[in-house]
Amino acid sequence: MNYIALRDEPRPGDGAAIRHLVETAGVFSPAETAIACELIEERLARGLAATGYHFLFAEEERRQPQGFACFGPIPLTRASWDLYWIAVDPQRRGRGIGRRLMAEVERQAAAGGATALFIDTSGRADYGTARAFYASLGYRIAAEFADFYAPGDSKVVFRKTL
Ligand SMILES: CC(C)(COP(=O)(O)OP(=O)(O)OC[C@H]1O[C@@H](n2cnc3c(N)ncnc32)[C@H](O)[C@@H]1OP(=O)(O)O)[C@@H](O)C(=O)NCCC(=O)NCCS
Repeated sequence: MNYIALRDEPRPGDGAAIRHLVETAGVFSPAETAIACELIEERLARGLAATGYHFLFAEEERRQPQGFACFGPIPLTRASWDLYWIAVDPQRRGRGIGRRLMAEVERQAAAGGATALFIDTSGRADYGTARAFYASLGYRIAAEFADFYAPGDSKVVFRKTL
């Protein structure tokens, strides 16, 4: 595997890359894909200070991103940040890209004043990989809301003290 660098300055082509990563992730609905695309377009149009949307891209030189994360401070909290999105190209999973993205998310969040990182996910079976991933990185379930997204589909909130 070639060297994969992390980049945190979004570029105009990143909208298409994020659409591809989210569409091929296998768990996100078309409505969720649309929201992920809106976040990057907003960030490109209005900048970091106005949106609070931090992005990280994992990529080899001159190649499309193989993974991305989006995160930021939770409005009206003093030191709590949220991971909004993370996805790694299905063909590149299991090689530590997600772990590297999360390590840098945590580093940047802590540098920005975060004392805790929160992650909302689903209790659905197809999110089992995501839940195992967060647990392996030291996140613990702080709350679970039954029948939240839909009957039988709970919201699971993970938390980690930074
Ligand atoms: C979750 C996701 C980002 C993980 O990315 P990744 O690059 O494959 O993860 P890594 O290779 O860095 O794995 C780190 C650790 O997570 C755990 N993990 C990762 N995939 C796992 C799996 N399929 N089953 C169990 N544990 C897993 C392991 O403990 C792994 O450490 P190890 O390789 O030393 O065993 C990726 O699977 C993905 O994009 N999923 C679809 C999108 C998604 O669900 N996003 C989150 C929505 S809330």
